[in-house]
This record gives sequence, C-alpha cells and structure tokens, in this order.
Amino acid sequence: MIDTDVPGVRLLILRASDVPTYVEYGAADVGVAGKDVLLEHGGDGLYEPLDLGIARCRLMTAGMAGATPATGRLRVATKYVNATRQFFAGRGQQVEIIKLYGSMELAPVVGLADCIVDVVDTGNTLRANGLVPLEHIADISSRLIVNKASLKTKNRLVRGFIDSMRLATKQVTA
Ligand code: PRP
Repeated sequence: MIDTDVPGVRLLILRASDVPTYVEYGAADVGVAGKDVLLEHGGDGLYEPLDLGIARCRLMTAGMAGATPATGRLRVATKYVNATRQFFAGRGQQVEIIKLYGSMELAPVVGLADCIVDVVDTGNTLRANGLVPLEHIADISSRLIVNKASLKTKNRLVRGFIDSMRLATKQVTA
C-alpha cells in the first residue's frame, strides 16, 4: 500500500487477477485491470468507463502447427476457464476445459490438450513452442474499472479521476 501526495488517495499494488475483486467489494474505489481478467471475473458491481489503450493483445485459441483436427470432444487448456466456456458455448460446441495456471503453450506439445486459450501479443511464445494462433476471441487492453457505489458516494473525486485518466489516455494516443 503506497501513500500519494494527493490527500485521501493511496495506491494498492495487487496481483492482476485480484484487482476486480478489490474494486467489486469497494476495498479499492478504482482499479486498472486487463480485459482478459475482466472477462474471466465477470462485470457485476463494476463500471468500466475507460479503455486505457495500453497492454494491447488478443485472447485467442492456438494449437500445434499442422495438427489434424481432434475427433470427439475438444480438450482446451487455459487459465481463462469462464471466457473459454463462453466462447465455445456461443458456437454450440461442447469442450473439455483443463484449468492451468501458467505455461499453457506446453499443454498441446505434451498431449495434455488439443488446443489452448491464451493472450497473444507478438506470437513469439506460440512460435517458440511450435504452435499457431487459430481463432480470435477478444481484443484485450488495460481498462479503468470503478466500484459502482464509489461512483455515487465519492462522485466528485472518482469522476475527476476518470476525467484525468481520459485526458492522459488521449494525450498518450494522440
Ligand atoms: C502471456 C501469455 C504468453 C505471452 C504471449 O504471458 O501467457 O506466454 O504473454 O506474448 P507473445 O505473443 O508476445 O509471446 P505473460 O508474459 O503475460 O505472463 P503470464 O503467463 O504469467 O500471464
């Protein structure tokens, strides 16, 4: 926890996947979280007013280059279990999801899964493991998130912060 020179404002440095939880419960009024983390968390209790336009990448499926299509139910390894279930359910495809916490790209190489769902930026990690990107699920970037109650109870402070961030974002992308 870090104090700032703005009265009443302090910063919390958190594990990325915990940021929406802190904001949802009002332990933090605002937060910065990746859209991948937000898709996984679900949006209840959170207001997402601003795309910060940084840390851009894509949530994608990926598999072994040249692999023959799986017969039967597809096995998908990912840490994005909810987003993956939603994506395949949206296509009416039943899949077996294997939850991993990292190094997803290893799963198809050793036969644990037919494919993975992970964030892809340069594609170097996939290439280094003999994988290719397959299907685009979502564009990802860092988002500003706000606790809905804080927006009402601390309206001036929170609105002012959102406006400052919006301005800074425009200046960076201009
Ligand atoms: C992500 C992802 C890949 C890599 C993709 O990992 O899991 O490993 O970035 O980037 P690339 O397409 O530019 O190679 P990250 O570094 O965010 O760490 P994590 O696995 O702990 O999430």
